[in-house]
Amino acid sequence: MLASRRILLIIGGGIAAYKSLDLIRRLRERGAAVTPVLTRAAEEFVTPLSVSALAGEKVYRELFDLTDEAEMGHIQLSRSADLVVVAPATADLMGKMTAGLANDLASTLLMATDTPVLIAPAMNVRMWQHPATRRNRAQLAADGIRFVGPNEGDMACGEFGPGRMSEPLEIVAAIEAALGDGPLKGKRILVTSGPTHEPIDPVRYIANRSSGAQGTAVARALAALGAEVVFVTGPADVPPPEGVEVVRVQSAREMDAAVDAALPVDAGVFAAAVADWRVASASDRKLKKSRDGLPVLEFAENPDILKRVSQMKQGRPALVVGFAAETNDVLENATAKRLRKGCDWIVANDVSPATGIMGGRENAVTLITGEGAEEWPRMGKDAVADRLARRIAETLAG
Ligand code: CTP
Repeated sequence: MLASRRILLIIGGGIAAYKSLDLIRRLRERGAAVTPVLTRAAEEFVTPLSVSALAGEKVYRELFDLTDEAEMGHIQLSRSADLVVVAPATADLMGKMTAGLANDLASTLLMATDTPVLIAPAMNVRMWQHPATRRNRAQLAADGIRFVGPNEGDMACGEFGPGRMSEPLEIVAAIEAALGDGPLKGKRILVTSGPTHEPIDPVRYIANRSSGAQGTAVARALAALGAEVVFVTGPADVPPPEGVEVVRVQSAREMDAAVDAALPVDAGVFAAAVADWRVASASDRKLKKSRDGLPVLEFAENPDILKRVSQMKQGRPALVVGFAAETNDVLENATAKRLRKGCDWIVANDVSPATGIMGGRENAVTLITGEGAEEWPRMGKDAVADRLARRIAETLAG
């Protein structure tokens, strides 16, 4: 809840500005007050009238508007909120923030403010990936600016990739987290993610096709709801989310030890695709084909981390969530897996190649709890994560 919180919302000039109208509604529904500021470019996309009607407040537009200066100086305006939110944050606005420019109302407010700032970038994928934006992003993060998004997806310009502004509800969650008001405030949650690499020799390993995308999205969603997240990740394709404690591991045994070190936690989400076996006969020197001939690999079973934590006699997390990647008889296998492992929930998904889920952007999951199975519609991995995080929040609160 955001009751009696004030958000200074700077709307930048991008097509995603239309989503900021919905963001204002969502914030007000939760009891927040919104002071809107429009850049000149933003007025090309949304009108001051619609913004002010939704916010129920005056829209601030010009730096040298004397009426505003008489009512409220720009310094005071910049400090009147609990949080400054920039949505959409265009490449131009990010550049100005990084450089410390103050040549219009929005950039001046961002320079003058002493309150935390959260930005929701939105731009064409090439612009997001441009070295200048990358530099700006790193600098802004180092300056303590918080980020939400951008998401990956189809863009208004017809291209595909990262650059879409986060959805209004994701921005609301990030605002709640930034203000320390999220429903998971004070909860410590462990998330495992990614594949594990099991060495054959110092240069070769056995791995699986997990990209780490779903676990990363879950960690991000939990952090956005205010949780303190410990993210134990194998060598994943996707970078870890911001704002979480990252523990990098390679093998299942390293992951097991890292999980142990992270306990106690209020909840554990085990999204990693942990290798069931490791090479028992792993060599400490590189195997040579001339000298060693065809290698014979012997396997040993890895520790089952989910099972061990689920069955802890003391200090078991209040909620333990496992994942089940199945290729057939998904429901039966996953239901049996929940009982066999002793976890509270299983998030089951069908990873047969035809679904395109493993390594893909979408997921179709069935949540299996003690009460039964709930089939969720196919949706983006971020949306699955968001829904799961909210369920976890409800359960830990109840
Ligand atoms: N898991 C784990 N440690 C392992 C293996 C799996 O913590 N050594 C966790 C995964 O993170 C996931 C769940 O257990 O949450 C499901 O793992 P999976 O490998 O699919 O289950 P298995 O027990 O291997 O069952 P099966 O071989 O029938 O698929």
